[in-house]
Amino acid sequence: MKLNNPMQHARRRSTGPLGGLLLILCLLLGLPLQAAQPPGQAIATAHPLATRAGVAMLRQGGNAFDAAVSVAAVLAVVEPYGSGLGGGGFWLLHRAADGHETLLDGRETAPLQARAELYLDAQGHADPELSLNGPLAAAIPGVPAALERLARDYGKLPLSASLAPAIRLAREGFVVDQSLRHYIQMRREVLARSPATASIFLIDGEAPPLGSSIRQPDLARSLELIAEQGADAFYRGELAQRLVEGVRGAGGIWQQADLSRYQLVEREPLRGEFLGMRISAAPPPSSGGATLIQALNLMEQIPEQLDDEVGRIHWLTESLRRAYRDRAEFLGDADFVEIPLDRLLSKDRARQLAADIDPLRASASADLPPIPPDQSKKGTKGEDTSHYSIIDAEGNRVAATLSINTPFGSGFMVPGTGILLNNQMDDFAIQPGSPNAYGLVGAQANALAPGKRPLSSMAPTFLETANGLAILGTPGGSRIISMVLLTSLGHYGGASAGELVARPRFHHQYLPDQLLHEPDVFRPELAQRLTAMGHRLQPSSGGKDGNGRYGNMQLVLWRKDQNRLEAASDPRGIGCSWVETEDK
Ligand code: DON
Repeated sequence: MKLNNPMQHARRRSTGPLGGLLLILCLLLGLPLQAAQPPGQAIATAHPLATRAGVAMLRQGGNAFDAAVSVAAVLAVVEPYGSGLGGGGFWLLHRAADGHETLLDGRETAPLQARAELYLDAQGHADPELSLNGPLAAAIPGVPAALERLARDYGKLPLSASLAPAIRLAREGFVVDQSLRHYIQMRREVLARSPATASIFLIDGEAPPLGSSIRQPDLARSLELIAEQGADAFYRGELAQRLVEGVRGAGGIWQQADLSRYQLVEREPLRGEFLGMRISAAPPPSSGGATLIQALNLMEQIPEQLDDEVGRIHWLTESLRRAYRDRAEFLGDADFVEIPLDRLLSKDRARQLAADIDPLRASASADLPPIPPDQSKKGTKGEDTSHYSIIDAEGNRVAATLSINTPFGSGFMVPGTGILLNNQMDDFAIQPGSPNAYGLVGAQANALAPGKRPLSSMAPTFLETANGLAILGTPGGSRIISMVLLTSLGHYGGASAGELVARPRFHHQYLPDQLLHEPDVFRPELAQRLTAMGHRLQPSSGGKDGNGRYGNMQLVLWRKDQNRLEAASDPRGIGCSWVETEDK
């Protein structure tokens, strides 16, 4: 398990007074320390066909934002278990021309008729069957609005060009791969309940064989309508009517007003700083940025005495425990609740939280200030949800994480549209203290309310050191943030893109109180020492290959010190990365 003590790096990397002076002079004079433009362009996505579509856009004169539209649309077709027009997502953007950074918040919103009571069983307990399966589980999608905004305000190509690859793949078909088969098998029973879903993804109730072709003519038509009429087709036009009728006809609660009042929101990214590394990340309604920055702030507090492997894993676990505790208590949709973000992200808060970490003993989550626990559900993980990272030759960047939540979302496809709906309603804390599909608990801040966005863990992130820039993210539910944290520390330590996506993973999320880890991450001697400190080790299980490995990180790395671009797709998935270098 490779985990460096960041403080040691800080010491080793110190440039001394002269280096510091040079930096200040350069900043004052506005001189670039290194190349302002990358030496080419790069893309990493979770599916080869999505990467190919992104490349095609760049070749047609589009920029990273056009590529981002194309990739998202193709993913909706070929990775239907992860994201799609019926879901949401967060796009972290950096525009090279003026340095403008923004986050497109295309997170779903709760329908106006949604009430917590609708998701309770006869005994008054949160019923995951209702918040996870079927049309009641679906919140109002944000992806169509985000695609239009990307194309209109940031891209160079019309939607008719950037949606073309997805339309073709939906109409002509694509080949069934291992991941698709795995997730169809996993959700077979729920998919079978929706006739439209079953007609596309099941043959006699079973997953289609590897290598067979899946055609989605209704989805091709829906994409075409969006290409012709923009997002209005989805929120106000022909599609809107079908969506409302289809959802209500199957027992859901969507109304026309839910769709017409949907707003894509552009938000200021959250900023953090870790020993000189700058972090731009997703603000609420994602917890991705806040929890990542809090955990990194806590990592800055690691005592020098903890300079061995076990000490570093211990401190990281305790940092995650505390950052996730704050997540559970404070985070939600900032348009609905007050979130004390400045305080949470302050270095003072980190010092205060670090003060009660025992360097030699695991804390018990139950001893931290309480949020009602209920550990009846285990976390799930994997590749559902999708991340991609892009940089173009001008230096425009996109880190985007998209989701329909658990594999195939609600499993419900609206008849006549080819659009599978999300089950993001489960990301609300339907009842305070009652865990969601990822075992996450929440409080009032993430309580369900009409029009509100459920709290997410998605963490599209930019990391910048003097030596390089990383563009990254991953699916994985509650584990997204710990994966991005481990990768952030690895990037700080100077690891290559390939190394970063492949590294073994471990995770703590406050509740349940366990140190979850990919099997074989900790050697027996290390595991023994962590256990002796009071950590409850829990190997992760399941996953596409049944080996307990989780996540599907897609990463682009611009190594400014070497004037080199790298891109890498997580070896746990079937993704594909691409780098093209230009002679400059
Ligand atoms: O927004 C969230 O945090 C979740 N809906 C993401 C789900 C996810 O990453 C599933 N992937 N394994």
